[in-house]
Amino acid sequence: MVKPVILTGVRSNEEPTLGNFLGAFTPMVEMQKKYAGDYQINMFVPDLHSFTTPIDHSNLKQNTLHNLKYFVAAGLDLDNSDTFLYRQSYIPAHSEMAWILDCFTYVGEMQRMTQFKEKSAEHAASVTMGLMNYPVLMAADILLYGAEYIPVGEDQFQHLEITRDIAMRFNNKFGDILVVPKSTADQMRFIQRDKGLRVRSLTNPAKKMSKSSEDEKSKICLSDNPSVARKKIMSATTDSLASVNFDWEKQPGVTNLLKIKSLLSGRSQDDINAEWVGCERYGDLKISVADTVEEFLTNFHLKYKSITDEELIYKLEKSEEKMRKIAGETLLRVQKAVGLR
Ligand code: TRP
Repeated sequence: MVKPVILTGVRSNEEPTLGNFLGAFTPMVEMQKKYAGDYQINMFVPDLHSFTTPIDHSNLKQNTLHNLKYFVAAGLDLDNSDTFLYRQSYIPAHSEMAWILDCFTYVGEMQRMTQFKEKSAEHAASVTMGLMNYPVLMAADILLYGAEYIPVGEDQFQHLEITRDIAMRFNNKFGDILVVPKSTADQMRFIQRDKGLRVRSLTNPAKKMSKSSEDEKSKICLSDNPSVARKKIMSATTDSLASVNFDWEKQPGVTNLLKIKSLLSGRSQDDINAEWVGCERYGDLKISVADTVEEFLTNFHLKYKSITDEELIYKLEKSEEKMRKIAGETLLRVQKAVGLR
């Protein structure tokens, strides 16, 4: 029997932060634990998507491996036979499918995409066809594998909706060719992502911790030296109320520290709060959180170093062989439908 497909793309442009680890890597690993067996899990690196805005191309290939190693260090099981790990550019059907879908997608639809509008404002000097075409390639990524569930952040919901629109439009014209992914509401029900799980910036706790921020002190990168990370926690912005409370509105800085402490130590939030709420000396809380962060990074780096390029590439190549076959079958159905074969 064919298993239903869960598919997710993990971008690898910038150095991930503690926020990405807690908000994306860990949930992904938990998803694998929960659903492997009943579902097929496709995890891929959308490397063709990574230069829709300008990047440094010299380390693109290496970055892909580097980021995937983080997932493995976070606990992703490479030996699981329901999990496929692959690079988009190694499966030519993605590009070919995107071209065909392009011819059933309207320019107006792409121009209306929020992410396109934001990014084209940000990179006004180089609004490329690639940037505009981003969601169509994403639709190809999804539709080639008949994926039903696509766990993504809210910023990608609009792209999922357009994927559904494109699939339904294609099916209306050519018959039942493509699997239409579940609606956003169904996706959310299925994934049950903890929406509150957002680690905040250490320097401006009103905002989330962002990997693209130029303020190094605002974020803890997974590559940070543990002692550097320690200093960042010690200098985190708090408030002048002089009493620890778990309150995102009034005291986001200390609340963020309490949250990090709970997530990294594996202790419940109630347990952590019982220990710290009411404490007047923020310095003590910071030392405790800094200890946890330092220990976490030290262990995480050890795990990272124990993963070899060889074992990762072996998994990638085996998955890519299988995915080329699956994607090729869908592409052939589509090519036949449009009269190419
Ligand atoms: N656009 C996604 C992001 O920015 C990455 C992505 C590309 C993706 N193709 C995908 C995610 C297909 C899910 C499915 O996070």
